[in-house]
Amino acid sequence: MFDGTPDEISGLVEPGRVHRRVYTDPDIFELEMSRIFGRTWIFVGHDSQVPNPGDYITTEIGRQPVILIRHSDGNSHVLLNRCAHRGPKVCNEPCGNAKALTCLYHGWTYDTDGSLIDVSMPEGAAKDFDKTQFSLASVAQTGRYRGFIFANLAEGGPSFDDFLGPMKANIDDLVDRAPDGEILLDAGMHRYFFRGNWKLQVENVLDSYHVPYSHASTVNKKGEQFSRREGDKEGAKVIDDKKTDKTADVWKGRRSFVVNFGHGWTSNTELNEKGRSSPAYDAYKDALAAKVGRERMEEILTPEFHNSLLYPNTSIMGLNIHIRVIRPVAVDLTEVTVYPVRLKGAPDSMNFGNIRLLNVTHSAASFVQTDDLESFRRTQLGLRSEQSDWIDISRGMGEEKADGHYNATTESAMHEMVIRAQYDAWRQYMCDA
Ligand code: FES
Ligand SMILES: [Fe+2]
Repeated sequence: MFDGTPDEISGLVEPGRVHRRVYTDPDIFELEMSRIFGRTWIFVGHDSQVPNPGDYITTEIGRQPVILIRHSDGNSHVLLNRCAHRGPKVCNEPCGNAKALTCLYHGWTYDTDGSLIDVSMPEGAAKDFDKTQFSLASVAQTGRYRGFIFANLAEGGPSFDDFLGPMKANIDDLVDRAPDGEILLDAGMHRYFFRGNWKLQVENVLDSYHVPYSHASTVNKKGEQFSRREGDKEGAKVIDDKKTDKTADVWKGRRSFVVNFGHGWTSNTELNEKGRSSPAYDAYKDALAAKVGRERMEEILTPEFHNSLLYPNTSIMGLNIHIRVIRPVAVDLTEVTVYPVRLKGAPDSMNFGNIRLLNVTHSAASFVQTDDLESFRRTQLGLRSEQSDWIDISRGMGEEKADGHYNATTESAMHEMVIRAQYDAWRQYMCDA
């Protein structure tokens, strides 16, 4: 029996290694749902997914179902998706538009801000029945930044501002690319499940070590990956050349960065910025320059970030732009949602190019993500073995350095500092009973 005492939790994370049970033990998974997902800031959705009154999306924070909905006054609300009468989920579609939300069981009807507006057969209600006491519950806290909406199921803890901290720069980096200063998550999504623990995908988004080997099938004879951005003729140089199969120096030169709360990012992928051109990309640059001026346009389009992770479960990819949300379902089952990003004010051809490239890299049948999903699946299978209790995450230990820019800590992106930082955050959340 696992009680989750600080001693038990601390015994699972040692310098440079973690116990396999953190990926396989259902008791630990349940504790993660309450101690991490139950009390930190979790990305729920984006303004552009609910632009009009009555628009809603549904999702889950940990195990708890929630609705993000736009009210008639223009404000959005994050409500617990549970009828205040006897408990059914009130909203059962992934997204839609509703004038009001009616529970299927006895027909109680809620306004789009969660307040109870109608009870069927009200003459039967208790004498002192007070409708204002039976609203759909709101989450304890919400936080908003440039269209991104986060919720926290618990009161207290670090403020949203402190939680986001330097990661604001990662959101700015993406949103500033839109000529109108807004992004749109309105181009559908890729959604799939893999049979593995949620942390495997979280660790992977900042793992540059696996790329030359896992994704070798995506590079040409010169060791360059196929193009992943509009206007690029080819992608990053990953391998020196196919004959030697040695990791390319430019790839080895990439950096990782970590800040508080397990957040982090990897540095820019070196590409031929001067040669980046296509009719769609050139028209986009003109549209951006028309809004912000040439100088600022050049600044915005000088790449700084590759992938970012807002721990525990949201990633922003800056190369073939998208937002990725990793939702734990069971200890060995995880849902991944990949939202293509449209840049508001960019030519349709540019936005279309971004979406098309994402089909190639991160759909369920893509060239890149399928390699990773197979690694996660095989990891989950391999960890059934009791040959050893430990998983090694020690690459580059002791080589971490302070980085003044964002008050971050930096290390080679080929090493495993980011995973160790994630486990530092994990242990802090989990130990705090
Ligand atoms: S349980 Fe929802 S109306 Fe009765
Ligand atoms: Fe990968």
